Amino acid sequence: MSWIIDEIVAQGGEVFFDEYMNLVLYHPIHGYYSGDEPRYGREGDFLTAPTASEWYSRVMTRLLVRVFDQTGPLRLIDVASGDGAVISGVLETLGPRASNVLAGVVSVERSPAMRRLQRDRLAAAPVDVHWAEDVAQMVSSSDPTVIHASELYDALPVARVVGVEKSVEELAVGVQAGELVWRRRPPRREVEAYFVRHGVELEEGQVAEANLGAEPLHTRLLEAAGQRGLSLVLDYGYEAKRLFNPRGRRGGSLSTFRRHELGRDPLISPGEVDLTAHVNWDDLRDAAAHAAWREIGLWPLAEFLVRAGIAEELEDHGLGMEADLDATTITARQEVKRLLDPEGMGSDLKVLVQAKGDMVDIAQSVLSLPQ
Ligand SMILES: C[S@@+](CC[C@H](N)C(=O)[O-])C[C@H]1O[C@@H](n2cnc3c(N)ncnc32)[C@H](O)[C@@H]1O
Repeated sequence: MSWIIDEIVAQGGEVFFDEYMNLVLYHPIHGYYSGDEPRYGREGDFLTAPTASEWYSRVMTRLLVRVFDQTGPLRLIDVASGDGAVISGVLETLGPRASNVLAGVVSVERSPAMRRLQRDRLAAAPVDVHWAEDVAQMVSSSDPTVIHASELYDALPVARVVGVEKSVEELAVGVQAGELVWRRRPPRREVEAYFVRHGVELEEGQVAEANLGAEPLHTRLLEAAGQRGLSLVLDYGYEAKRLFNPRGRRGGSLSTFRRHELGRDPLISPGEVDLTAHVNWDDLRDAAAHAAWREIGLWPLAEFLVRAGIAEELEDHGLGMEADLDATTITARQEVKRLLDPEGMGSDLKVLVQAKGDMVDIAQSVLSLPQ
């Protein structure tokens, strides 16, 4: 605990909540995401779709190939690429077709340790892999581009506010008698403006989060993709109207995760637990509007995977409905069930699909529901 207290004291004794969240997740030594090993995945604190099952990357590969059939070689940009599960899964699934289907791969990952881990994991990649710490470092390209981002936006630091009469107060984290404490402060202008922009008036005492970084980051990402782009963003979230509805989330959406257990107090065990807040999909829609991209759909993960061909992928591996019930079939079906689970990931995780240029028609055709 003392490292965070030292940091806050060094910054004047108090920081706004987004500054606190940035420290506890991304401090170069003590941050949750700064360790040498990923803290998510089957052995970790929480599952993401790519770490839940290899079938996720297989279906993603199927989608890439179907797009490639209409565009030619693609540039794949994986943002928040983590331990590189998606990139290595796609390259493995493509096998000898990789250098044909992919013009190149860009892996954008904030954590230096994860970038190092990926360099080892992908040392023998049959295509050019370029690493970047930030979307701003990406070079533009005229290649048709597919962007993939799984649980990027819900891992961004958020400001936290409490509704007061016709306005909000902003929450800050201070230090008192060697303990972290909440403080209420007048809101910064950009925080107040966030709720005005989304037409949200919070009830007295209602807590909510403002993800100030999501829209600018998504705008930069879409712009870096160029004129022929398909963007696939996987995250937990709602549109503003639902996210800030006091009947659904009067306490906000900020959660902590440790060993698959959900918690609500972000001041406990700083740097040792994941902190995450739901995405406001309207932020990413506004970004698309600025960059002249079109929305193809916002679907629960299960529906997206069905549209992208998960049933056909299982058939192609001899694991469809007719398959013998041996150990391989049972294991594959269990993994697929985890991704499609209507009580879990399959409905809680959403996929926002946006496209630009000729990718609009292509995305609509490859993601139409199978007849
Ligand atoms: C919840 S993990 C998701 C990892 C992976 N995409 C998955 O689904 O398994 C979030 C990752 O986002 C990375 N990250 C956070 N902000 C980022 C940013 N602005 N640019 C690139 N990566 C970022 C973190 O370092 C972390 O590896």
